[in-house]
This record gives sequence, C-alpha cells and structure tokens, in this order.
Amino acid sequence: MKVEKAVIPAAGFGTRFLPFTKAMPKEMLPIIDKPTIHFVVEEAVNSGIDDILIITGKGKHSIENYFDRNSELEAFLEKKGKAHQIQPLRDIEEMAHIHYIRQKEQKGLAHAISCAEKHVSGEPFAVLLGDNIIHGEPPCTRQLVDEHLRTGKTVVAVEEKPGDQLHRYGVVDGTPLGERSLLVTGVVEKPPPGTAPSNLVSNGRYVFSPEIFDCIRNAPAGAGGEYQITDAMKPLVEKREVVAYKYAGERWYDTGDKVAYVIANIEFALRHDEHREELSEYLRELAKRL
Ligand code: UTP
Repeated sequence: MKVEKAVIPAAGFGTRFLPFTKAMPKEMLPIIDKPTIHFVVEEAVNSGIDDILIITGKGKHSIENYFDRNSELEAFLEKKGKAHQIQPLRDIEEMAHIHYIRQKEQKGLAHAISCAEKHVSGEPFAVLLGDNIIHGEPPCTRQLVDEHLRTGKTVVAVEEKPGDQLHRYGVVDGTPLGERSLLVTGVVEKPPPGTAPSNLVSNGRYVFSPEIFDCIRNAPAGAGGEYQITDAMKPLVEKREVVAYKYAGERWYDTGDKVAYVIANIEFALRHDEHREELSEYLRELAKRL
C-alpha cells in the first residue's frame, strides 16, 4: 500500500539542550540559517510525501509560524527593495500540506506517534524524528518507503555504530533478508554497555503499518513513565512483521545532542560555497592549536 502521509514528532522537552529549550523548540535550532525541522520536512517531500502531520506541544508555536505566511515581513521586504527574498520564504510555506496536533503530555515518542492515529486513518505512514537530519540521496525515508512497498512490513532505518556507543540507542537484532535488510527478531532500547545484541541502531526514521497503534495502546510505560517506540514494536517483532533497513546515506545528525549539533553546523557550512573557504581556513588554524 502506498505511503502518503508522514508524521514528525516534535513535542519533546529537549532536556539535553536546556536552557535553550526552556523557551524554544530544539526542532527550531538552526543549521546555519535553516531550522532542523525544515530539513526533516524536505526529506519527506523529496521522498514523495507532502501530507505531513507535526506533533507539537506547549511552547512550539515558532514551528507553526515558520511554515506559515508572514505578510508583515513580506511588505517590509517589498518596501526595502528586497522583494527577491520573498519567494524563497513562500517556497517554505508551499513546500507541503502541513497539519498540527498537540501532544498534551510529553509521555514519550510512542505516545507522540499515537496522537497521529486519526490523521493517518488506517494507512501505512512514515515517521521522521523532528530533531534528526539524515543527509544523502535518495532520501532515507524514500528508501524505507520502497522497502515497505517490497515487503508490506513495518520498516526501521538502521546504521552501524561502534560498540562503545550502543548504550545510547535503540538496537535491533535480526536475520538477513535482502542485500540491505534484516528480518527483525529483537529490539532493545539503550542496552547496558556490553549487552547489545548487534551494532545496528535505529536512527529515527520509520515506516509503520497501522497495527502500531494497537501495539502502542497495549505497551507498558518504560523508565520515567515514557512510552518507548522500541517497546511498542515488540508484538510486531514477535510476529516477524518488522524489517530493519541499512539505508544508504552520507550522514546522520541527532541535532538534539550538543556535539552532533555543532558538527552538523560545521559540515553543512563546509558544503556551502559561500562559507567553505573562510571556515576551512579557520579549521586549519584551529587544528594547529589542538
Ligand atoms: P527525544 O527522546 O530526543 O526527545 O525524542 P526529548 O525527550 O525531547 O529530548 P531529550 O532527550 O530530553 O533531550 C525524539 C523526537 O521525539 C519527539 C521530540 O520532540 C524529538 O523530535 N518527542 C519526544 C515527542 O514528540 N514527544 C515526547 O513525549 C518525546
């Protein structure tokens, strides 16, 4: 079945990024001059999905403002002879059909996804975490959609991480299925060091079959009363209905993590003709001092 809708959870408190997140959503942290969530929406659109539901919460109005028209700003740009800046702003609001729903309590990622049940109305749907950027072509979500069309199963994007980092992620175990895919036989959220069943971690991109909503309803709350998506997926894993897909991509940035955020800014600036030379020179100088 075609995947026509995407859900972007963006309601979390972002405690790793306090104090910034006291007043601003981490999904609005800029990579140079574009907020993180702009890249996430772009990935969905470039994957052929333009019906997007963003899960928001208290204090997240700036996300809605960003994807809305700002007539005062446009009038100002017109008056100041900067009319050429207007169309790029309109392109943002015209990029996709964006809907919003509020998660009333921050009870974890699985709970945030459950807020999308009415909107996706019984169809398979993509999930893209609002604070993760995956750089590469074809877009990661496109690769997952294609794998879903091939298998009809829930698909989780995975990539390999070194052993000493596995305790920070959701880790999947499985048996080989295709060139890049595995049939998932187990999932574990943040395994204690040395206990991970594999080195394949979930990177925040999924295509779910609608059965996930029943699974979330029946899932137990995890640490801190949060509902984890890895726990909710377990019944689907037991039925062998989940595929892990080793997506082809250049880089994954979890911008909700401070160091990953700084790295994302440096790497995106280096890809920019306007900034590359100046920044490269600075980095060469910096390397001499380290
Ligand atoms: P994280 O686990 O990174 O988000 O969720 P968090 O809880 O906001 O961050 P930290 O760990 O405290 O710093 C990944 C994505 O899921 C969303 C977040 O907004 C983020 O985009 N999320 C998380 C929700 O929408 N609702 C939640 O209850 C939790």
